[in-house]
Amino acid sequence: MTEQKATNVHWHDGEVTREDRSKILSQKGATLWFTGLSGSGKSTVAVALEQALTAKGKLTYRLDGDNIRLGINKNLGFSAEDRTENIRRIGEISKLFVDVGVITLSSFVSPYRADRDLVRELHKQAGMDFIEVYVDVPLDVAEDRDPKGLYKKARAGEIPNFTGISDPYEEPLNAEVVLNSHEMTLEQEVDILLQIMTDRGLLAA
Ligand code: ADX
Repeated sequence: MTEQKATNVHWHDGEVTREDRSKILSQKGATLWFTGLSGSGKSTVAVALEQALTAKGKLTYRLDGDNIRLGINKNLGFSAEDRTENIRRIGEISKLFVDVGVITLSSFVSPYRADRDLVRELHKQAGMDFIEVYVDVPLDVAEDRDPKGLYKKARAGEIPNFTGISDPYEEPLNAEVVLNSHEMTLEQEVDILLQIMTDRGLLAA
């Protein structure tokens, strides 16, 4: 757990609750957390799910590794410490969105189990739905795809600490959903995700 640095600070509740906001939106917020190697297809499925949910009239927002690292987390690199802080902040940001009532699609390599488990725990403590989605493809598939040319650079020694090449990826042990994007169509992946959301009553209203 991150140390609480500021002292003499106290939570201040408002008069409007998460449930009040949910009623206005006719939906319940939740986080779908996509984890997997770079090039595994996390962002692709998150983008497709976002479209499908929008077509159903559900308010969603996508948080994506590269985008977040160009903004709020531009001061973080790829050391283990920085990745942990990256994920901790995204976890907190996801929670804020869920508190508003938004279905939040967070797609980050998030290679460390402990970091992902912390985000899961933060959601649990707040009574929020958290669905971990492991986008599981073999390294050679991600490397063959190499959509950003990063594996090539990493193999050439031009990117230090590159996940899967010179940095670890710790597979989830208890992900709610595992998607094998090299063996499934995008449509199948989206259907699986819509189904688990339906089963959890997230798409009811
Ligand atoms: S995380 O490990 O902290 O979760 P995050 O998802 O934010 O990573 O960012 C990963 C993205 O940054 C990758 O998709 C890739 O485009 C880029 N990237 C640049 N350097 C690295 C690196 N050393 N390891 C992994 N991804 C990297």
